[in-house]
Amino acid sequence: MPATKIPTSAVLQLLHERKALPVFPAIISRLDEALAEQTVNMDRVVAIIAADIMIASRVLKAAGSVRYGMNPPKDLVEAVARLGFTEVRAIAFAVSYTAGFTKPAHIAIHVFWRHAFAAAVAARVLSVWFAQERKQRVCDMATAFLLGLAHDSGVLLLDLLNPEAYGQVIEAVAQGEDSLQAEQRIMGTTHPLISAALMKYWRFSDHMAMAVAAHHYPTRLQPESQALADLVLFAEVIAVRLGYGNGVYQAPSPAMQGVIQQRCEVQSITEEDIMMLSEQVDQQLQAEGWLALADGLG
Ligand SMILES: [Fe+2]
Ligand SMILES: [Fe+2]
Repeated sequence: MPATKIPTSAVLQLLHERKALPVFPAIISRLDEALAEQTVNMDRVVAIIAADIMIASRVLKAAGSVRYGMNPPKDLVEAVARLGFTEVRAIAFAVSYTAGFTKPAHIAIHVFWRHAFAAAVAARVLSVWFAQERKQRVCDMATAFLLGLAHDSGVLLLDLLNPEAYGQVIEAVAQGEDSLQAEQRIMGTTHPLISAALMKYWRFSDHMAMAVAAHHYPTRLQPESQALADLVLFAEVIAVRLGYGNGVYQAPSPAMQGVIQQRCEVQSITEEDIMMLSEQVDQQLQAEGWLALADGLG
């Protein structure tokens, strides 16, 4: 039976009608309220974090990691102070965001989250590297982290919307078809567009949603917006290089490989750069406990 094609604009609406659209994490709304105060109350922020053991432990781990000299913080207050509110929010977002998605029919969920966390850490490492080595400020660390985390959420949503059709996509990709091509052919839309639609629905900036929408084809954006989409693409490359494919593919298709090569040339990123950055990402992924978190979600 041929799969029914659905316009991109209808995907979120259909999921909403089925009560299957992930809701914006409630803890993030509470945190945002606390962070919007004219003078942010540290105790209030810490209390919100402390109420969720998964988030609290991840914040403590991040604050005790190599980026902060590996000295474990003495308590959550010190951990939050060390990381800063923006990074704490990004960590809280990552932990609570995963809970909003239903398990997909065809993808091992821990494989998907390993990819998302690896891309999140990779995007953060890349944002620092661009700033320090290239004197190019693409975006702040927290924005980078969120982009990496959310870039492939469309995969889960498309699978949730029509598991049978997405099963066909996965089969076609296993036979060598490019994942975007297969999604477009079978479902009539693609995962980057759906990831971006969810980001817009959750009121992330247009700039962030566009970078996610174009993460397989950065040149589809205006030149001034391409660097942010490149960052997501390179984060993807590093995640896959470390062995964390997204559950749909384990290696870039020839079409994607061509785009990666072209964007690496434009940004003068060498194979050595990717290797060195991948090592950093690998260390931070382990040290901050993201892989363990992904595995616990399986
Ligand atoms: Fe993707
Ligand atoms: Fe990806």
